[in-house]
Amino acid sequence: MNTVTVTLVQQDGVEVTIPNAPTGASLMEVAKANAVEGILGECGGACACATCHVYVDPQWQEAVGPPDVLEEMTLDGVSHILRDNSRLGCQILLREELDGLRVAVAPPQ
Ligand code: FES
Repeated sequence: MNTVTVTLVQQDGVEVTIPNAPTGASLMEVAKANAVEGILGECGGACACATCHVYVDPQWQEAVGPPDVLEEMTLDGVSHILRDNSRLGCQILLREELDGLRVAVAPPQ
């Protein structure tokens, strides 16, 4: 199994860098396993709760790509805190091209 490094910036400004995130896992799963504050993943990754909402660093937006239709519908539920770079962490599957990925944890709903 390969691993990548990802960094999540919590709402309190603390940066959590995870140097051994397995490819194939979702960003939400990795964040939860490393106790990143603000990533709750309440629906278990079913794209239904938006408690894994992150803002993708602009320089990583192209590599991460846009949300699909189902994810957009879930993101609509948090439209008051939605940004152009909003994604759901459970829908970002880690792959080698995302080594170095950096996101910010969105505020609570
Ligand atoms: S964990 Fe529920 S939408 Fe991502």
